[in-house]
Amino acid sequence: MKPLRVGAVGLGRLGKFHAETLAFHLRDAELAAVCSVTPNERAAAEESFPGTPVFANYERMLAEAALDAVVLSTPSDCHCAHIKMALAAGQHVFCEKPLGTREEECVEVMACCRAHPNQVVMLGFMRRFDPSYREVKRRLDAGEIGRPMLVRSYSVDPAAAIDGALAYLPHSAGQFLDMAVHDFDLARWLLDSEPVSVVAGGGCYAHEAFAAHDDGDHVGAFLKFENQAMLFVFAGRMAAHGYQVETEVIGTEGSLRVGTVPQRNHVEILDGHGVRRLCSQGFLERFETAYRDELQAFVQCCLEGKAAPVTVEDGWCGTRIALAAQRAYRDDSLVRLPLTARGDLAK
Ligand SMILES: NC(=O)c1ccc[n+]([C@@H]2O[C@H](COP(=O)([O-])OP(=O)(O)OC[C@H]3O[C@@H](n4cnc5c(N)ncnc54)[C@H](O)[C@@H]3O)[C@@H](O)[C@H]2O)c1
Repeated sequence: MKPLRVGAVGLGRLGKFHAETLAFHLRDAELAAVCSVTPNERAAAEESFPGTPVFANYERMLAEAALDAVVLSTPSDCHCAHIKMALAAGQHVFCEKPLGTREEECVEVMACCRAHPNQVVMLGFMRRFDPSYREVKRRLDAGEIGRPMLVRSYSVDPAAAIDGALAYLPHSAGQFLDMAVHDFDLARWLLDSEPVSVVAGGGCYAHEAFAAHDDGDHVGAFLKFENQAMLFVFAGRMAAHGYQVETEVIGTEGSLRVGTVPQRNHVEILDGHGVRRLCSQGFLERFETAYRDELQAFVQCCLEGKAAPVTVEDGWCGTRIALAAQRAYRDDSLVRLPLTARGDLAK
């Protein structure tokens, strides 16, 4: 099969990893171009991907690189504009989460996708490709824990990465859109239901810098779903021990848990300090397999003309829920999420 020619756009913390995945780890794909507005990332790309054209300008890459698809790992507030540009240039699109940072731009981009029905647009909610979360989904769907009552989901970055989080703060769009959006998507997928209301709390417990962006360094939200299940989300920037991504689903006949101890591997150290397990320290380490499997799925969808397993509508739902949670946090209020909005927009 002729490989899919893919351009990787954005070569930062995640984009570089996606570019390496495309270049070295996927079947039926070729890293055909890379693009970054950051000079030192372009210099590093020249070395990492010899012979691959490196662009400083996205529009130029779209015009000159003869691509089939792009993988967008650009800042969250660029995603919708970058998706539209790729669609206009005739390309398939894989876009990192969140779909957008404003509801209107998400609605516009969904309309644009509907106008290009033969082009795949897939969102990067990689937890849906993680082997552990997939097993939870399979057991849940098989009814093994009865009726799900509560999803409890934590996403907390390691304290050791706080400098990066503070530098990224102006672009992060806030904890709910940047971090908790993964938990919102996960709950929608696991429960196969949509939330109807949200209340939220949190604050700046360690770093006042977040307050300047009307955000907290740690936030929480409680959501009710249409099927009466509950979701409790905790998202933050400072787990002392490492990257704490943890989820529990409590059902009427049992519970399923993922990552309650975020251990790096199976090693346990028994020494003068007691018994210790090493913790994973970041998203690349914890979700390496999931990031590769989601891009492989994207490539196969493009080549085989199949629908994306994570859609632009899923992206919109994630953003819509995150914005509602942000509103609930900022106004200290209960925010309702009308279910009708989803049906109206899907038409
Ligand atoms: N799925 C996940 O778990 C996960 C993890 C990390 C980041 N992300 C998402 O990935 C995206 C990027 O995050 P990051 O942490 O890698 O950011 P980053 O700041 O490290 O990198 C951003 C990159 O985008 C490039 N860029 C900015 N504007 C551009 C433009 N107009 N044209 C071309 N390139 C441009 C920059 O040069 C840089 O290479 C964000 O949307 C973030 O939410 C997702």
